[in-house]
Amino acid sequence: MNKQSQWKSSTGFILASAGSAIGLGAMWKFPYMAGIYGGGAFLLMFLAFTIFVGLPLLMMEFTVGKMGKTYTTKIYEKLTQKKWLNIIGWNGNLAVFVLFGFYSVIGGWIIIYIFNVALQMITFSDDNLGNIQFEAIIGNPFLTIVGQGIFILLTMIIVMMGVEKGLEKASKFMMPLLFIFLIVIVIKSLTLDGSMEGLKYILQPRLEDISMQGILFALGQSFFTLSLGTTGMITYASYASKEMTIKTSAISIVAMNILVSILAGLAIFPAITAFGYKPTEGPGLLFKVLPKVFDQMAFGSGFYLIFLILFLFAALTSSISLLELNVSNFTKNDNAKRKPVAFCASVLVFMISIPATLSFSSLSGIHFGAGTIFDNMDFLVSNILMPLGALGTTLVVGQLLNKKDLKAHFGKDKFKLFMPWYYLIKFVLPIVIVLIFVVQFI
Ligand code: PFF
Repeated sequence: MNKQSQWKSSTGFILASAGSAIGLGAMWKFPYMAGIYGGGAFLLMFLAFTIFVGLPLLMMEFTVGKMGKTYTTKIYEKLTQKKWLNIIGWNGNLAVFVLFGFYSVIGGWIIIYIFNVALQMITFSDDNLGNIQFEAIIGNPFLTIVGQGIFILLTMIIVMMGVEKGLEKASKFMMPLLFIFLIVIVIKSLTLDGSMEGLKYILQPRLEDISMQGILFALGQSFFTLSLGTTGMITYASYASKEMTIKTSAISIVAMNILVSILAGLAIFPAITAFGYKPTEGPGLLFKVLPKVFDQMAFGSGFYLIFLILFLFAALTSSISLLELNVSNFTKNDNAKRKPVAFCASVLVFMISIPATLSFSSLSGIHFGAGTIFDNMDFLVSNILMPLGALGTTLVVGQLLNKKDLKAHFGKDKFKLFMPWYYLIKFVLPIVIVLIFVVQFI
């Protein structure tokens, strides 16, 4: 039996790909990256890259998935008759392994926080306690390995159940609820004493803060949040039915992602200055700052718990797309092998994730290249493998695929978007990606 997975409806497809896109990238990574690379200047670069590079690339990945309709270590061969081009699919698969390895570390932190808050083991009222507790949690190798193990296990169980069940339904109410929570946090954060400075920091671009490194990381951030270059979005589009609408889906996903990133920024930065944190705290930023905001609310710990559960849900809808890519490639879309493959891939990811988690404890002294082992895994994926994967696909689409075929799959074109999109993919974006890519090594 070779039965390929398929979304039940085009809403199912949009919800799933929005679920893949919106996750730790927008809520956890964006604020801490913006904190390090210049606040408003970073936001501006991120917006520019997301709209002018990310959006066309997302449309491209959807088109490729819809045209090829198979797993991504085969799709390039199917579309071009050139077997060696499947290397782009393998590059994506490698990216996903490493990405899941460090993604699960943060997923594990969320799970540990959920248990701690539920059992009331965390109190935040004391000024420095949030910090101390955070360091104690992430510095505990055993606890964090168990946390990330649970995160990978949850992902595995969902993926084993198959793409069409449960999740589509759950995201219909979980995601809007997450939006509402974010808005509540933003309001609370903005009404704190001393919040205006933080607001200015994230909204006012200071051109002198733009650095080459910041540009590179802003591009990496756009790739990361939109799940680009890993071929994860190609996989999801290959499960979609003919009626899926490429433009509407891509535009709504990009818009939602930008909105969540900005909301996360507005939630965190005002609180950073209000509570006297540094914007350059790094990966722990969200975990240190948010509890203090909730502490200022009535029923704060209850709301914090609900928020953490929603946050975990958002992270899981992304991590399942990471595992799903492996399942799709290694089962060659044969659903009968889904369970054993999901199991083996999860075990492998768990092993890769251990050094990443220990970067915050026993291996924290190891520094090279981009920083700790964790930082290097992130750098390898966001700044090297994802841009390389996206570059490969732009070259295939722009130079090898037939324009007429592309147009037919691009769908109805009321606003005449096809031609500008096509020329962007064919001539402009490969050069932009190569330039930024090369500059980092100079
Ligand atoms: N876009 C996800 C996030 O922002 O959390 C991360 C991600 C998921 C990247 C799936 C790549 C991917 F294939």
